[in-house]
Amino acid sequence: MSYQVAVSGGDKAQRYAELLPQLQALIASEQDQIATLANVSAALNACFDWLWVGFYLVKGPQLVLGPFQGPVACTRIGFGKGVCGAAWQQGRTLLVQDVDSFPGHIACSSLARSEVVVPVFDSQGVVKAVLDIDSSRLGEYDEVDRAALEQLAAWLTPLFD
Ligand code: SME
Repeated sequence: MSYQVAVSGGDKAQRYAELLPQLQALIASEQDQIATLANVSAALNACFDWLWVGFYLVKGPQLVLGPFQGPVACTRIGFGKGVCGAAWQQGRTLLVQDVDSFPGHIACSSLARSEVVVPVFDSQGVVKAVLDIDSSRLGEYDEVDRAALEQLAAWLTPLFD
């Protein structure tokens, strides 16, 4: 398979429409969890102008930093803490339009303004990781992102079984 992932531009919906089939093929081609999460992070980072994109993995009572693209980030997040820990606790996607309005937001970067966190489940419906994406712009993420990123998360489920 090709090791290139690219989109030709356009708005967010067009970018996801081009990117998602490439991500699906990328995920189907490799069964190693870390290798796949690393390439998914790189592919998302290459196709969007985001500040940070990556995964935190559930390890016992904490989320621990996994494969990512972007600046150095905090390594451990407790259950229910920050946006990531809240998405883990609630088992649902959290769209945060303004991180300053989210109580307990963990500021890994002072440049972060908005954020989306998507849980990744195993086939039993247990949260095993979260996909965390940050933007330096307010209100970056919406229902288009939610739909695309939840589809992506569903393709990742077999890596956690
Ligand atoms: N902002 C996140 C912490 C992780 S960094 O954004 C990479 C949170 O509040 O959980």
